[in-house]
Amino acid sequence: MSNAKGVSASGHEHWGSRLAFVLAAAGSAVGLGNVWKFPYITGENGGGAFVLVYLGCIALIGLPILIAEILLGRRGERSPIGALGNLARREGRSPAWGLVGGLGMLGSFIILSFYSIIAGWALSYIFASGMGTFTGADADAVGAVFSELLASPARLVGWHTAFMVMTTLVVARGVRHGLERAVKLLMPGLVILLIVLIGYAATTNGFGAGIDFLFTPDFSRLSTSAVLVALGHAFFTLSLGMGIMIAYGSYLSPQTSIAGTAVTVVILDTVIALLAGTAIFPIVFANDLTPGAGPGLIFQTLPLAFGAMPGGVVFGTLFFVLLTFAAWTSTISLLEPTVEWLQERGRNRVTAALTAGLGVWALGLVSALSFNEWSEITLFGKGLFDLLDFLTANIMLPVTGLGVALFAGWAMSIASTREELDVSPAIHRLWLVAIRFVAPVAVVVVFLYNLI
Ligand code: TRP
Repeated sequence: MSNAKGVSASGHEHWGSRLAFVLAAAGSAVGLGNVWKFPYITGENGGGAFVLVYLGCIALIGLPILIAEILLGRRGERSPIGALGNLARREGRSPAWGLVGGLGMLGSFIILSFYSIIAGWALSYIFASGMGTFTGADADAVGAVFSELLASPARLVGWHTAFMVMTTLVVARGVRHGLERAVKLLMPGLVILLIVLIGYAATTNGFGAGIDFLFTPDFSRLSTSAVLVALGHAFFTLSLGMGIMIAYGSYLSPQTSIAGTAVTVVILDTVIALLAGTAIFPIVFANDLTPGAGPGLIFQTLPLAFGAMPGGVVFGTLFFVLLTFAAWTSTISLLEPTVEWLQERGRNRVTAALTAGLGVWALGLVSALSFNEWSEITLFGKGLFDLLDFLTANIMLPVTGLGVALFAGWAMSIASTREELDVSPAIHRLWLVAIRFVAPVAVVVVFLYNLI
């Protein structure tokens, strides 16, 4: 039971309300993954069939693992490494399970290093739109703005630095208060602006083609590596496989329904990604751009829409403000595990945040330079930025997710998970089948398929 200060009998802090947790979890989940990454990987992987596989991964693997992470966090009442170690001891299992949390933490560090570069692009586009750069611009002019940004190490590093400072400041001060309140305003704002953009997209002559591309599956365009990308993105977009939801779950009050909360987060996240796709692809087809343009996709399409619509300077600026905020609520959650870990090793919160922030910033330089000075450096046919993205999203997240599934499904006793979930026996059984068999088998099969 919590008392008025939201601290349980065991002394662990709790969220102020169910809404607060939903918003924090959704704030972490909804980010560049939805608006930037989902559209561009859908474009690179042929559209509708990829979307269908992605939705399947979300429902069959993402949701059960999200439930598992929140459950482990609430029952373990610790940081990711601590929670798994703690539970393993209580269930009579090896403390080595804590390593799963450690791998996740390393992943969050690497993801943040390149995520901050893209967030920096969003930040710089606030100013570009605000100054009217895109008004009346055609596809070539908009493309030139983007390539000039990428070609300049100084500008990329400058925006990256600004974004890491913003992130570190919030984390250093502790997250809960400012963030909870900000997210309540920002999330609805982002949805409204996406709907405005869809309204514009519907007036272009690419609307039919765009919708068709996104929602009509053509399985001949689906490769096995696309399935790996879809699986990896399901983890990425739900902030899974890094222990973040374990950390957030540890502050969840015992009365709150884990399953209901997880379903809400998944629906919010999925709807925002699909809205983003619906806004973007019509503009791609109306302007003869290629859907497979890669990471630059939204930065080369949406400014066209803003440049052509009445009030585009205002809408465009607002849109990039909201995108920046969506990214910000995610970067905060990405820095948190490393900071928590440094604190557990005796640093105070401010020193921990500055150390972690500086480390991530330095690693981010690699991604910034990979777009210009170091663009020829490739490994396994990928540039450094793509390589870090591939390593984390497509390998580290699923492996950690597999560890979480095995731990929650097999190392935890059925009685423990039943008590913690507190749902009907039928739903508990359904979740158990998903977490014991469906999720682990799917992850392993997708991996083996890509190895051979
Ligand atoms: N889910 C966020 C997005 O879609 C990114 C993110 C935040 C993340 N925290 C994470 C990804 C933890 C993986 C793990 O943009």
